[in-house]
Amino acid sequence: MNASRNPVQVPLLLGMMRLHDYPELAAPHALLGFIERCVEHGLHAFDHANIYGQGRCEAHFGDALRLRPHLRGQLQLIGKADIVLAPQDASRWQVKHYDSSAAHLRGSLEASLTRLGVERLDGFLLHRPDPLMQAEETIRVLQEMLESGKVGWLGVSNFLPLQWQQLARELPLRCNQIELSLLAQDAAWDGQLQALQAAGLQALAWSPFAGGAFPVALQQALATVADTLGATPDQVALAWLRRLPGAPVPIIGSLRWSRIENALAGAQLHLDAPTWFHLAQVARGYEAP
Ligand SMILES: NC(=O)c1ccc[n+]([C@@H]2O[C@H](COP(=O)([O-])OP(=O)(O)OC[C@H]3O[C@@H](n4cnc5c(N)ncnc54)[C@H](OP(=O)(O)O)[C@@H]3O)[C@@H](O)[C@H]2O)c1
Repeated sequence: MNASRNPVQVPLLLGMMRLHDYPELAAPHALLGFIERCVEHGLHAFDHANIYGQGRCEAHFGDALRLRPHLRGQLQLIGKADIVLAPQDASRWQVKHYDSSAAHLRGSLEASLTRLGVERLDGFLLHRPDPLMQAEETIRVLQEMLESGKVGWLGVSNFLPLQWQQLARELPLRCNQIELSLLAQDAAWDGQLQALQAAGLQALAWSPFAGGAFPVALQQALATVADTLGATPDQVALAWLRRLPGAPVPIIGSLRWSRIENALAGAQLHLDAPTWFHLAQVARGYEAP
């Protein structure tokens, strides 16, 4: 992989989707303390989206940042847009849908900047591939965002190779944020990661712990491997991801400091190939073909 195109340069990203699940971070000064602690430990990249908490997650983060504006310069803020949740749909159908039109993306970016209280997003991603995307229009507005300086770099999320390749012909895409974990292994087997690596796009892995839904058999296998390596099960689950082509960067969803610290401490853990396949097999329930 062309390392210079890795846009985040952190061992893990912090996902903001569940920000409101942590009452201890409900006060802006408490969240500010959390952000500062992350930065002190080299974790300066935060993954947002305009739909998280229907905008409330960005707004809360922005309230914390307003208490110490100079901190902004030390952060990498990633935003995403193009999903319209059903309650936000103004049509008679009130339907969840995607909107990659120039007007919608422009408006979404401005709203995110306002909520976060910043002048630019470091990274801006199309959240989901829109089956109705008019590529020329979407490409133009994304170029305009880069040129205006309101966005530092561009990426996509949940795009398959044929989908992101269409945009990558015209835009300097830097990443694809995809679901990737022991419970979501498709991209590890179907060539998606190789395609990203060959084109110099960094894979970012969302829900690396499957949102806490690892089945008991997998938890037991992770614990056994962890014992043999002197590591913890969470560290092994992340090492399984990092072993993949292009070393996908996990986006951690838990904002409990103990989990984050533990994940960080295991960032150099390496799995050999038989251990990787053993865990893949336990998780999938069948052996490699
Ligand atoms: N691009 C997309 O379409 C997309 C989709 C979904 C998510 N994302 C991004 O990815 C981020 C992470 O997603 P996620 O929250 O589903 O990720 P995750 O890290 O897989 O899940 C975190 C959740 O799992 C729980 N959990 C239970 N056992 C755990 C364990 N042993 N280790 C760690 N966590 C455990 C955590 O609970 P505790 O609170 O007890 O720690 C927390 O509720 C989001 O915040 C968002 O930024 C992107």
